[in-house]
Amino acid sequence: MSRCRIAVFASGTGSNFDALMRYARAHDVAYDVVALVCDQPQATVIEKAERWGVPVGVFQPRTYASRPLYERAIVEQLQALAVERIVLAGYMRLVTSVLLEAYPEHIVNVHPSLLPSFPGLEAIAQAYAHGVKQTGVTVHLVDAGMDTGPILAQVAVSIGADDTLATLTERIHREEHRLYPMTVDAWVRQQYVREGRVMRERPTSQPSLDFDDQRSEHS
Ligand code: GRF
Repeated sequence: MSRCRIAVFASGTGSNFDALMRYARAHDVAYDVVALVCDQPQATVIEKAERWGVPVGVFQPRTYASRPLYERAIVEQLQALAVERIVLAGYMRLVTSVLLEAYPEHIVNVHPSLLPSFPGLEAIAQAYAHGVKQTGVTVHLVDAGMDTGPILAQVAVSIGADDTLATLTERIHREEHRLYPMTVDAWVRQQYVREGRVMRERPTSQPSLDFDDQRSEHS
């Protein structure tokens, strides 16, 4: 099977970018990261991409006359690289119709809360300040809203009495780095089916008849 060509979009540290790359090196994944798109020329994720040998495109919104022209420039670059799907990893902007129409249902995001609770910025701090006992990580398809798209995968993280915002943040990031690459891999393998806004995992294949026959012969 040929691998799905993905572009990662990020604005900051890039620990999820790194996790996607490390997972791809260690497993027989179905994705190839062929580009990093970054809107912040000073972002640490750029050095990470260079270390991995992934081509970087820096696109600064303020250098374009409008938001659609900014996204149009990105889409042209992605199409030139034959990018098939987009993986947001700490990309600190809402995606608008230009990208959504160029990649319909082909954009995914990771968010550090159990959506629909605590969408938007500072989700870990929001959950901590609210006093919830469980928060977590969500991987979801991207639509025009703020962290509102159909959910592919979630993992819960408990908040204990001894937790500080720092310890909670560390555990959330650890779960993101575990959950996101494996979910992206399953997603590019088309292991999810959409029913309305519900994403269902395809059932794993049943044992074949031959296998059953062999067992009954030998049992
Ligand atoms: C992560 O917490 C992710 O869930 C959120 O932005 C953060 C990015 O972190 N969307 P990093 O740049 O991947 O380290």
